[in-house]
Amino acid sequence: MCGIIGYTGYSEARGILLKGLKTLEYRGYDSAGVAVYHPNFKEVLVTKCEGRVEKLDSKCADVRGTAGIGHTRWATHGGVSDTNSHPHKFGSVTLVHNGIIENYAAIKNQLGIANKLKSQTDSEVVAALIDNYYEGNPNEAIIKAVKEISGTFGLAIMFDDIPNKIFAVRNVSPIICCQNEDGAYIASDIMAIGEYSEKYFVLPELAIAEITEKGISITDFNGEEVQPDILTLDWDIKNSGKMGYPFYMEKEIMEQPDVIEKTISTRIKNDLPDFTNDNVDDSIFTECDNITVIACGTAMHAGLIGKHIIEKNCGVPVTVNMASEYMYNQPIINNKTLVICVSQSGETIDTLEALKYARRKGARSLSIVNVKGSTIARESENVIYTNAGPEIAVASTKAYTTQVAVFYLIAAKMAQLRGNLSENGVKSFITNLKLIPEAVASVLERRSEIHHLSNGMLTAEHTFMIGRGLDYPTLLEASLKLKEISYIHSEAFASGELKHGTIALITDKTPVIALMTQSDLMSKQVSNIREVQSRGAEVLTFIKKSLLSKDVECSFELPDLQDDFMAIPSIIAMQLLAYYVSSDKGLDVDKPRNLAKVVTVE
Ligand code: M6R
Repeated sequence: MCGIIGYTGYSEARGILLKGLKTLEYRGYDSAGVAVYHPNFKEVLVTKCEGRVEKLDSKCADVRGTAGIGHTRWATHGGVSDTNSHPHKFGSVTLVHNGIIENYAAIKNQLGIANKLKSQTDSEVVAALIDNYYEGNPNEAIIKAVKEISGTFGLAIMFDDIPNKIFAVRNVSPIICCQNEDGAYIASDIMAIGEYSEKYFVLPELAIAEITEKGISITDFNGEEVQPDILTLDWDIKNSGKMGYPFYMEKEIMEQPDVIEKTISTRIKNDLPDFTNDNVDDSIFTECDNITVIACGTAMHAGLIGKHIIEKNCGVPVTVNMASEYMYNQPIINNKTLVICVSQSGETIDTLEALKYARRKGARSLSIVNVKGSTIARESENVIYTNAGPEIAVASTKAYTTQVAVFYLIAAKMAQLRGNLSENGVKSFITNLKLIPEAVASVLERRSEIHHLSNGMLTAEHTFMIGRGLDYPTLLEASLKLKEISYIHSEAFASGELKHGTIALITDKTPVIALMTQSDLMSKQVSNIREVQSRGAEVLTFIKKSLLSKDVECSFELPDLQDDFMAIPSIIAMQLLAYYVSSDKGLDVDKPRNLAKVVTVE
């Protein structure tokens, strides 16, 4: 939530900041702003407005200077307005903030500044607090202020009397740094600055970065120098644009055969699962007697598929928890619990806090994460990175399918190590897994058929999705996709459950989507389809080829894989359906209303 950027160097800052903000816009698009040290006026000048970066750009013609900070906002404290936009300036301090300051009201009272603040934000209070402590020593003022605030923060700070220098400090919220011969850069996400250097680092928590055109130095709160871990960018930054697609979501859907292949193939050796390069310790798979998956939204749906596959193949009980509820529900955890956290961004605060809680209670941990060096990755004992590459569209697609692919690998590895499957059994599991990218490609090739089907959904206000067994969690994810980008209310039901109340809502105006990929459940699913059809519903059926039958008309034929491996091709069809409904409704597919890609508030 919220994106921050900073640059100081030998070039004009304006273009660099605005370009970075455009990349970071997926983190929040309520408002945007920049603050640049003006060499003639000898102070930091702020330009900001409610709305998208494009609007800000049109207001920045006069912005001059070679050092500045910028922000794109997802509103928490204070509504969407020009004044609540960042940067915030108080006295000689200007800052941008990502995160939440929990005790801002108390600090505001303590400083007695209520009538001096221009905004309703928690962030402006931090600017006031630093300014309150500033007597010429910026580090001292920042340290004093940071020690007083509680909450999460990534802060980039400038002082009017310290030209061209940026200070950064963080707690939980990410700040990534890099430098080259043209200057030094900071951002909430490497995507915004990756084009400037392939070497970068994550600013350690509670340390101060001093950023000048010559480079970046870091000291802890005792003034001791800190050496960060240098990371190497392994995403092809040149392919990070839309590559001719109208929306990132379409591009990311189309990338799935490749990224799934990359996620799987790098972890298969002699047709057996192999996590050697991930340094995953086998004992986490052999010594646990229960697994707890913790995640939010789409990532949690990946966990539901994982549960199905692991329980079936390894006989280990798996519970899947919404991260936001986890620690408030008296979870049963012990040193035989393996916690698997799933997160594309690796920054989701609920997932992070739940992970920390479980570790404190003695659980072993493994995280499935897309963003290298992210907080969840660093807080976890073991990490398996998905090879999805940058996912920019708010609606998650390729991150989800690569997370599911990792769950298949985990199930195979556990079954092998625990002796649930023979070596040949594991090899045959892996053979099935390797067929997924091709099956996905075959769905994508026929996307125009799905586009055609999506026409029937354009005017719908409500829809229901029904499926049994593995199809049910797939539809939970399909339903979330449709809701978040098309604004059609959608609910997924285990088909048998619909008639226990919700069938009352079925009319001829509620299209129903039925997914049928599980052989053993076909006849029951056909009956459930009849039940809704006889109440007037139009049913779109997505059926696996080998299960086609004269008992039910097929709207879209899914490729044939063994039942347990259908979760990925099925969801691709549903992602396309949601995508076409949204784009044909003329909506902003990549940036749906009220949402942000990275959710760093509880
Ligand atoms: O970055 P994470 O995977 O932890 O994010 C969790 C959810 O916020 C995320 O999956 C969300 O549900 C998707 N953007 C929906 O498409």
